Amino acid sequence: MTRWTDGARPGEAPPWEAFGVDAARLPRHVAVIMDGNGRWARQRGLERSEGHRAGVEAVRRVVRAASRLGIPALTLYAFSAENWKRPAAEVQFLWQLLADTFRRDLPELKENGVRVRVLGERGGLPEPVQAALSAAEEETAANDGLTAAFAVNYGGRQDILRAVRTAVREAQEGRLQPDEVDEAWMAARLATAGLPELDLLIRSGGEMRVSNFLLWELAYAEFWSTPVLWPDFTAEDFYRAIADFQQRERRFGGLPE
Ligand code: IPE
Ligand code: IPE
Ligand code: MG
Repeated sequence: MTRWTDGARPGEAPPWEAFGVDAARLPRHVAVIMDGNGRWARQRGLERSEGHRAGVEAVRRVVRAASRLGIPALTLYAFSAENWKRPAAEVQFLWQLLADTFRRDLPELKENGVRVRVLGERGGLPEPVQAALSAAEEETAANDGLTAAFAVNYGGRQDILRAVRTAVREAQEGRLQPDEVDEAWMAARLATAGLPELDLLIRSGGEMRVSNFLLWELAYAEFWSTPVLWPDFTAEDFYRAIADFQQRERRFGGLPE
């Protein structure tokens, strides 16, 4: 079992300093669209499943990097509500990989204070996968380090619709007035309730689209895309994204200072 340190030997600077990351001004919540596993595999003449397998290593690198840096929350897009359109064999492989990975990595996540959270419609997943996800959530619930949220069978539109249905139901029962439905009401009913405001969205694999991820939460997040395919994504790429984010001027609709 490994306890994650900041990766520097005594007397050495932590690894992110060379990339210009200011550890005193970190984003509070970073989300990642982990894309490019299939292309990575094809480039090597491998099955797409091998790309997903290699992608798990990149997940480990990024979770460790975020944890060492001290970022409060990291949300990773693992399976979209639309990914069911893929061949059944690929979908099946992804569920197996997800369940195996959670079971294998749980001790290390616990050891390092990571709190696991799952976003999405987990009721639609195979029972052993649901069990592995719930075990990871329950056994890390008391941790106070990095919150690592995994978006699984998640869709931004579906998540908003779920909240709207709740509102209609409560209104029909006379428990909710129209004025009560404000931004805070909505935020508290989305899958990301309780996580800090989203600051930065990273997408690997080079596409410039959101693919139904965190639609509400992305309102004023900064976007950073890299052509690097997900299995090749390193802690250094993550530091680059953070350093770039720290150079941005966020205006939230106002005027520059
Ligand atoms: C992302 O990689 C992983 C998932 C969507 C599960 P892809 O499988 O989409 O890889 P590409 O985009 O085909 O290269
Ligand atoms: C987004 O990637 C979903 C995940 C990374 C889990 P996709 O590969 O599904 O996105 P599109 O189809 O290129 O928009
Ligand atoms: Mg893709």
